[in-house]
Amino acid sequence: MSLQQWTAVDNYIAGALVEPDAAVAAALAASDAAGLPAIGVSPTQGKLLNLLARLVSARRILEFGTLGGCSTIWLARALPPDGRLITLESVPKHAEVARANIARAGLADLVDVRLGEALDTLPQLAKELDDEHADPFDLVFIDADKPHNADYFTWSVGLTRPGGVIIVDNVVRGGAVADEHNANPDVQGARRLTEVMAADPLVSATVIQTVGVKGYDGFAIAIVGQSA
Ligand code: SAH
Ligand code: DHB
Ligand code: MG
Repeated sequence: MSLQQWTAVDNYIAGALVEPDAAVAAALAASDAAGLPAIGVSPTQGKLLNLLARLVSARRILEFGTLGGCSTIWLARALPPDGRLITLESVPKHAEVARANIARAGLADLVDVRLGEALDTLPQLAKELDDEHADPFDLVFIDADKPHNADYFTWSVGLTRPGGVIIVDNVVRGGAVADEHNANPDVQGARRLTEVMAADPLVSATVIQTVGVKGYDGFAIAIVGQSA
């Protein structure tokens, strides 16, 4: 099996089941023109995020790693008119391109792009939500720098309602995750995430391997507050 075949199948599935998408296409074109890397979710993955948000009737969503806002748009579309998505991004240019893309998609009222390293902006965000007596998050999508995945996951558990879902992208790394001797910080980050998910009695989780236009990778999916 090859990337060429995975791509052909992804294109077939997207052609049949993922609605033609002017907003995401425009966001990708603007991101490309601004020189952002083309590493956002694929159409079939974006649709999966949208379906998961609808499955948990998400009203509050937290995202780590905005890039050009492709996954943000997929997720924000699942929100009701009074919903809210907060997305954390450390690179000013990414945040700027994403804000424009999100506005063009008609989602600016629902989305708050917060600039800064996630571990720096999280304490302030948590305090703000606490002060506002805001509802906890229904869904979290973790897709920023991979070495911090376990830290982001632990923060997310504390900010998510019982029955809420946490999804983590890029946790299989072409299969490298199974190699305990792999020294790559992204791989170590994925392994540490697995350990943290396994150790938390309030978390029920699995990892699904995926192939497609982005190659061989996978995502973790966890439910908070309900053990198996
Ligand atoms: N979720 C996006 C892709 C995100 S790529 C999509 O699927 O469309 C990862 C993003 O995380 C990049 O934009 C990168 O700048 C950002 N990032 C990296 N380290 C970060 C950090 N410490 N805090 C917040 N964002 C970070
Ligand atoms: C990379 C980051 C991602 O979030 C992704 O989905 C694919 C690749 C990267 O940093 O190369
Ligand atoms: Mg990713």
